[in-house]
Amino acid sequence: MSKLTVRDIEVQGKRALVRVDFNVPLQNGVVADDTRIRASIPTLRYLLDAGASVVVCSHLGRPQGQVREELRMAPVGARLQEVLERPVKCASDCVGRPIEKQARKLGRGELLLLENLRFRPEEEANDREFAWSLAQLGDFFVNDAFGASHRAHASTEGVAHFLGSVAGLLLEDEVERLGAVFRTDAGTRAVISGGAKISDKLALLRHLVERIDVLCIGGAMAHTFLLARGVGIGASLAEPELVEEAGAVLAEAERRGCVVELPIDGVIAQAPEGPPQARPVVFGEEEVPAGWRILDIGPATIERFADALRSATVVVWNGPLGLFETPAFAGGTMAIARLIAELPAESIVCGGETVQAVRQAGVAEQISHISTGGGAALEFLEGRSLPGLAVLPDRA
Ligand code: 3PG
Repeated sequence: MSKLTVRDIEVQGKRALVRVDFNVPLQNGVVADDTRIRASIPTLRYLLDAGASVVVCSHLGRPQGQVREELRMAPVGARLQEVLERPVKCASDCVGRPIEKQARKLGRGELLLLENLRFRPEEEANDREFAWSLAQLGDFFVNDAFGASHRAHASTEGVAHFLGSVAGLLLEDEVERLGAVFRTDAGTRAVISGGAKISDKLALLRHLVERIDVLCIGGAMAHTFLLARGVGIGASLAEPELVEEAGAVLAEAERRGCVVELPIDGVIAQAPEGPPQARPVVFGEEEVPAGWRILDIGPATIERFADALRSATVVVWNGPLGLFETPAFAGGTMAIARLIAELPAESIVCGGETVQAVRQAGVAEQISHISTGGGAALEFLEGRSLPGLAVLPDRA
C-alpha cells in the first residue's frame, strides 16, 4: 500500500488516537459478533506493545446525533477487554475537557475507549471544530476503520487534517487484499457478484469488466442480464428498465476480454416459501412458466462457475446467488461457498449476507480473507476514492 502505516513512525511514549470500526451487532446488551473487534487487535497490540498509549474511537449503529442508551460503547469495551487481554477504560463522552484529561493520564500500554461518536451530530457532519476536539486526544491519528472509510466523517477524514496520520494494520491488509483483484501481475482475477438489484451494482460491474478476467453473475441481478440475452424469466425479480445498460456491460466485457458467466439454469418456484413445487429448469430448453420465479442458480450453473473459476488466482465474492435464507434455494450459494473455500486461490469475501453465507456453509475458516467492510469494500471495488483512505499521506 502506498500510504504511511503505524510501522513507518515512532510511536513509543506517544498517544495514538485510533479510529476503528466497532459497529458490531448487539443482542441483549452483549456483542453478538466480535469479528470487527478481533480484526482491530493487531493494530492495538502493535501500538500498546511498542510503548504507546491508545485512545480508541468508533461509531455504533445510527443514533443520528442523539444519545441512545442501547448504543453505548460499554458492551463493546467489555468484549475488547476480553479479546485484548488488557484492561479497557470506557470514557463517558468522546470529546471535551474531562475526556482530554483522562486521555493525558494514560500511561504507556494503556487504552481508553471513547463513547459512541455518533451521539454527536457533528461527527457525521464532518464538523471542523469537532474534528479539532478529537485531535486534542492524541499525538497522532491512526485510521484502522476500513469499514467506515467510505464515510467523510470527522473521525475518519476531518481529524486527519489536524494530526499526523497513518493507516492501521487492518486498513492496510484490507486495501492490499481487495486490491489484488486489480493487480495486473496477480494471475487470473475473478469476481462472483450476486444480490438482488443490478441498479446497486452497475457501477461496480462496469469498473470490473474493464479490469478483471472472469465475472460470474448470479442472484436476482442476473435476471436483468438474462433478459438482455433474450431469456424468458417468468415472474422473477428483474429491472427491465436496465436491460440496455446490462447489455452494454456485456458488450464492454467482450471488448475487454473479460469472460462473463451468467446462469444457464435455475431453481424455480411459484412462491419464495420453497417446496413442494420448487424444481430446476434449464434456460433455453424450457420457459420459466408465467407466475414462476427463479430463486437460485441450478446445478449446471454451479458447474459452469466452477469451471470458470478453476484457474483463478484471486477470487472476490460479494452477494448471494439465490434466496439462501430458505433451504430450498440455498443450494447454489452454499455450493459456491464450498467451491471458493477449496480453490487454490486467494479467496476474499465481502458484504454482510455473503459473510453469513460462508459461515452457514461452515467454510469461513478456509476463506483467505473475510472483509470487515460492507459498503466500504463495494466502493473500493467500484474504484471510488474512500475519504478515510485518501486523506492519509503517501509514503515519501
Ligand atoms: C458498516 O457497518 O458498514 C460501517 O460501520 C459503516 O456504517 P454506516 O453505514 O452506518 O456508516
